[in-house]
Amino acid sequence: MESKQVIVGVTGGIAAYKAAELVRLLVKSEIRTRVAMTRHATRFVTPLTFETLCGNPVIHDMWEGEGTAMAHIDWGQEADLIIIAPATANFVAKMAHGIGDDFLSTMLLAATARVMVCPSMNTHMYENRAVQANLALLRDRGIVVMDPGKGQLACRTEGPGRLPEPVEILDRAAALLSPQDLSGLTILVTAGPTVEPIDPVRFVSNRSSGKMGYALADAARKRGAAVILVSGPTNLTPPTGVEHIGVKSAEDMRTAVLDRRKNCHIIIKAAAVADYRPRQSRDQKIKKGPEGVSLELVKNPDILAELGASRHDYPGVLVGFAAETEDLLENATEKVRAKNLDMIVANDVTRTDAGFDSDTNKVKIITKDGAVEDVPLMPKGKVADLVLDRSKAILDKNFE
Ligand code: PMT
Repeated sequence: MESKQVIVGVTGGIAAYKAAELVRLLVKSEIRTRVAMTRHATRFVTPLTFETLCGNPVIHDMWEGEGTAMAHIDWGQEADLIIIAPATANFVAKMAHGIGDDFLSTMLLAATARVMVCPSMNTHMYENRAVQANLALLRDRGIVVMDPGKGQLACRTEGPGRLPEPVEILDRAAALLSPQDLSGLTILVTAGPTVEPIDPVRFVSNRSSGKMGYALADAARKRGAAVILVSGPTNLTPPTGVEHIGVKSAEDMRTAVLDRRKNCHIIIKAAAVADYRPRQSRDQKIKKGPEGVSLELVKNPDILAELGASRHDYPGVLVGFAAETEDLLENATEKVRAKNLDMIVANDVTRTDAGFDSDTNKVKIITKDGAVEDVPLMPKGKVADLVLDRSKAILDKNFE
């Protein structure tokens, strides 16, 4: 997203304060962000707040202050996306009817960037037929209109009209800014650990947080794929728009993956599946006695190996992950062969900045022809995009 440029247009509603958080999130995502405000918006939040957050001058008056004489033309043509948040009923009406009577509305008339509008107002106002007709006009012209959230509003009424949470707006914006190069594809991702019960209160599991798999699912969805996320228990919220199938044990994960593999173009197995499970899962909690207890473990099915062994049923691209503590390259390369994969993503899980639970990862991508790509340390979101790029390239080659 670093090369992308976004303008946040803030209009005069109480939810203007939430736009500050949106700007912070955009900047954190390395998106170059500019802010334009209406005069009424400056009554709720000062331009200085936004200037400080985005590091750029804020324009709130056509005739005074920052900006060049041509800013009302240049801004909307230099940007990739303009987000109007919050959008008041009055501002929506101005947009619908082509009125340009201040900097923001005039800039929109000359803009070539995509536009997303986030209405926020009193429920009755939002449901008013004039407002709905204006929003319909905007949609007809290809403007993305985000549905407002429901709940208690600042005017103490209940219903639709809340500005969506800044993180939801960011999520939608990121999808609009991403190439839709995976649209038409179905991608299945597994994530998280599996848990294998010993008794009703104890289990065998591992340290997977799900972050790597969820980053893959999120990136694939933003790039237009239909995503099935089969996930063991994690503390993460599934990305919006993905089909989330929650599982617990390796057996559950196997059933879910085999059930859904048929129409998938790419399967990426980032889950840390427990290799062993207790032979017996007790119905009652095991009581503490004077002696120790031994736990007998039996092998779990290897889901990835099973997929690899039935490539006739599954012609798509098959990608594994390898979590290694030693001989990373040798062990991962052997897994590509043994499990009949197109590609494996190997991570050294002894590092604190890679593998389990970290926000970054340091991987080697190994393809079945033996080519190795040594990828520098980067956020898991970026690793996800790279893994998707490489998987898509294999898919394209297979169908050449
Ligand atoms: O979830 P995070 O905290 O973000 O951590 C990410 C991660 C370290 C879990 C991830 O990057 C990763 O390496 N996932 C694979 C972990 C693993 O199980 O590696 P493995 O080398 O044991 O297995 C190789 C492959 O076979 C994996 O794709 C695994 O999903 C699959 N497998 C393994 C065992 C099994 N019984 N069935 C399987 O399908």
